[in-house]
Amino acid sequence: MEEVGFLGLGIMGKAMSMNLVRHGFKVTVWNRTLSRCDELVEHGASVAESPAAVVKKCKYTIAMLSDPFAARSVVFDKDGILGEICSGKGYIDMSTVDTDTSSKISEAITSKGGYFLEAPVSGSKKPAEDGQLVILAAGEKALYEEAVPAFNVMGKKSFFLGQVGNGAKMKLVVNMIMGSMMTAFSEGLVLADRGGLNPQTLLDVLDLGAIANPMFKLKGPTMIQNSYSPAFPLKHQQKDMRLALALGDENAVSMPVAAAANEAFKKARSMGLGDLDFSAVYEIVKVPEKSS
Ligand SMILES: NC(=O)c1ccc[n+]([C@@H]2O[C@H](COP(=O)([O-])OP(=O)(O)OC[C@H]3O[C@@H](n4cnc5c(N)ncnc54)[C@H](OP(=O)(O)O)[C@@H]3O)[C@@H](O)[C@H]2O)c1
Repeated sequence: MEEVGFLGLGIMGKAMSMNLVRHGFKVTVWNRTLSRCDELVEHGASVAESPAAVVKKCKYTIAMLSDPFAARSVVFDKDGILGEICSGKGYIDMSTVDTDTSSKISEAITSKGGYFLEAPVSGSKKPAEDGQLVILAAGEKALYEEAVPAFNVMGKKSFFLGQVGNGAKMKLVVNMIMGSMMTAFSEGLVLADRGGLNPQTLLDVLDLGAIANPMFKLKGPTMIQNSYSPAFPLKHQQKDMRLALALGDENAVSMPVAAAANEAFKKARSMGLGDLDFSAVYEIVKVPEKSS
């Protein structure tokens, strides 16, 4: 089997690359903080010293990085992807970024003869561990076909959405909805509590009705225990709200609900909650306004 590269072993990348290794893929990994590669190596992965060194060894390389800055950095900086990408090699960026970042990366890769695919994912830490992600791919169809065996291991369903940018847009729309829902959910929990209701009873009622959903079911019980072990870091949810609002600007779509939710996530970041789970936005909704 050909060698597959994997850059970025954070919450998602670690689980996704581990699944590839477990399913018999030959994987070479790189992470900015190199010690994070150790666990993958223990399970049979190889490690390379830079993104360029990964690309040199591998037919195609997958990246799962925090944000647009990181996504651009591994491509354009010293010892980055561009140093080794060439005809016959592919690069698949699964990070959540904006369309401009994805397009710039795509242009750079293809100008060197390489293939590019963006493939952000829907689903969090647990679906990543269970190989149950939803993959939103767009770009070079031939690379998509080549990567389908890897996508089948990491995800339960993959979509090919056409030209570069469509995967990024789909992902941002999904996370804009999710962030707005989480903020409304937090307000509902606080309102129930302040109104003298039992928040657990609210969760039970919600779960039986038309707005029941896996997110409320998963996050509700931990939120009412004030427990925010990060599955999806709040700083990344705020990044996605910001990028979705920029997409709204570009398309002249008014999104007052998303804008208000973004403010809540920004406030949570300013209070030092960025590395907690995004459900920690509940903490800032709970803070009583100072009476004037
Ligand atoms: N967690 C989720 O539930 C979830 C779900 C869907 C999509 N996503 C998206 O998936 C991506 C990764 O999320 P995550 O939760 O795995 O994030 P994470 O745990 O914060 O991991 C971020 C990764 O990016 C690397 N990184 C950050 N800045 C870098 C830079 N300047 N250069 C090189 N590498 C850099 C980190 O390396 P270090 O180890 O050195 O810091 C780490 O490997 C994000 O775009 C996120 O929005 C996340």
